[in-house]
Amino acid sequence: MFDIEYLDIPPLARAAGTVRLPGSKSISNRVLLLAALSQGQTTVHDLLASDDTAVMLAALRQLGCTVMQDGTTAVIDGLAGRLVQTQARLFMGNAGTAMRPLTAALALLGGDFELSGVARMHERPIGDLVDALRQLGCSIDYLGNEGFPPLRLRPGLGALNLKAPIQVQGDVSSQFLTALLMALPLVARHDIQIEVVGELISRPYIEITLNLLKRFGIHVQRQGWQRFTIPAGSQYQSPGDIHVEGDASSASYFIALGAIAESAEGRNGIEILGVGDASIQGDIRFVEAARMMGAQIDSTPNSLRISRGQSGKGWPLKAIDLDCNHIPDAAMTLAVMALYADGTSTLRNIASWRVKETDRIAAMACELRKLGATVEEGVDYLQITPPIHRKDWKAAAIHTYDDHRMAMCFSLAVFNPAQLPIRIFDPKCVAKTFPDYFETLFSVAETDTANIPVICIDGPTASGKGTLAALVARRLGYHFVDSGAMYRLSAFAAARAGVALDDAEGVARIARALPVRFQDDRIFLGGEDVSADIRTEEAGMAASKVSAHSQVRSALIALQHSFRKLPGLVADGRDMGTVIFPDAALKIYLTASARHRAERRHKQLISKGIPSTIAAIQQDLEARDARDMSRPVAPLKPADDARLLDNSELSIEKSTDLVIDWWQDARPF
Ligand code: DC
Repeated sequence: MFDIEYLDIPPLARAAGTVRLPGSKSISNRVLLLAALSQGQTTVHDLLASDDTAVMLAALRQLGCTVMQDGTTAVIDGLAGRLVQTQARLFMGNAGTAMRPLTAALALLGGDFELSGVARMHERPIGDLVDALRQLGCSIDYLGNEGFPPLRLRPGLGALNLKAPIQVQGDVSSQFLTALLMALPLVARHDIQIEVVGELISRPYIEITLNLLKRFGIHVQRQGWQRFTIPAGSQYQSPGDIHVEGDASSASYFIALGAIAESAEGRNGIEILGVGDASIQGDIRFVEAARMMGAQIDSTPNSLRISRGQSGKGWPLKAIDLDCNHIPDAAMTLAVMALYADGTSTLRNIASWRVKETDRIAAMACELRKLGATVEEGVDYLQITPPIHRKDWKAAAIHTYDDHRMAMCFSLAVFNPAQLPIRIFDPKCVAKTFPDYFETLFSVAETDTANIPVICIDGPTASGKGTLAALVARRLGYHFVDSGAMYRLSAFAAARAGVALDDAEGVARIARALPVRFQDDRIFLGGEDVSADIRTEEAGMAASKVSAHSQVRSALIALQHSFRKLPGLVADGRDMGTVIFPDAALKIYLTASARHRAERRHKQLISKGIPSTIAAIQQDLEARDARDMSRPVAPLKPADDARLLDNSELSIEKSTDLVIDWWQDARPF
């Protein structure tokens, strides 16, 4: 999980493999609410675990609904249309799929509720829904700006007026109609009619709503897209078990990936599991748009396989001119695919983008231009001309506007022909619908090893390399390797096996086949947690001894190289910059005076209750330094191109900031 300020993604070259998608956000939140309103218990399988579903689940619990959740499975005891709690303050984050339907359901059920969200939620319109509910006699006040959340709902004064058709505006967000369709069965003592005013946008989302309502026992009748009738006596009934499909909008990033990236050697493109041609989600029609652009796509009812077209036949992608009203969310992905097209692409009828997580038309235009594209932005369209020549591409730092889709879309710009890296600000915003998006992308994407950045931090013992390297890695979202641990493990495993530390071949044999696993902050040797055992002073001294054998050093090279994975690596040791990663983009040689290092180590040992004296520690340190520096193979010394950092007088935070600043200087952004 990348809880960091920005994520730099190196240029990527190829992609292949299988991706299992998280559950659909739209289906998950609808199913949760319907299950909560129903009679009976519902087990929801493959539920999306994300910010937006967490918001819905928290609200349902506050309303007195019993929910048991175990990963992607939730068991919900339905309230059978009666609230346990009729007073609550509910926080909706930035989840439109929670805010709108809950407003309608709670307004009809009656009670005293306050619904608020993040600042952006308070800029997303809800007036058309409130107007519709007020026609019925619901009592709703705006607590901030007229027409926008936060809202206060109060019990209505008299009986609801359900006789006349309820009018709702259809041209701002289809979620208003969805909210009414999901909530009105609560009060369907006789037929209730809903009339859509204006052109209904995003119809596929209404189809999802109708489809799921049917699964919960509500059979809405529809005349065209203008008039919907909820039959008298409708009652939600739990279907027992229900499975959530993979998210078709999330699929769009991997469909695009398959269309853009060359397949890895001897492999057959990208396979997506969890969503296919039997999907009830409108965004599955993104497949058609991707095919129009040249993607090769095979499908089964619940899977897709995508590969890039041949040169001249599907690659480069073909520019398109498309009405995207039927795939409003996935169409954002087309905007980034347009960067790889053979001409100007136009995405039309996308006015709803302006009232989503951010003004997506403005945001998309601004960020695409940073990459070198020429973009024309209209009230309801976007026209994109890719950078003409390779040299016209720019390494861009992309702002994501707290919009998950901006972050996911722009990650695909790293396949640019100029081989430039891309910076994605606030990458964690993907948690709204796809918390593991970047991990999933990196599990199928490949690049030449030389493209994967490495930062080396070498230095003598107790200089604080380990702490510094781990903090730098965390700030950048990079992997981290503590190479000293490998020498410590080799010595430890050798001693256990009765191999003498001066038996170079014997220790090397053990080092070559170390059954080691690094997991978070722990180190396991054949399943046994040895983290504490290898951290003792004796283990350090033993490591220093075995590390002088060239055979042992060679035996550990492959293991160290194996940590160089996307999106990057911070490596700490003695010879990271000189021997193991000579091409590292930044090399730091970290020192502190022997006295400072001895004092720090002394403090550490005392805090662990291990008695020691500063003088004795300093003597040991100096002996170890001398051995590490004077050995003939890979001695400890600064690489010629290393930057020296003496942290004797620096706090760890200051040292980390300094390294991040140096790294920043070496970046093209
Ligand atoms: O960083 P450390 O204290 O965990 O390292 C233990 C010993 O391992 C150190 O004294 C020398 C050796 N080592 C090495 O030779 N090369 C490395 N890259 C890392 C450690």
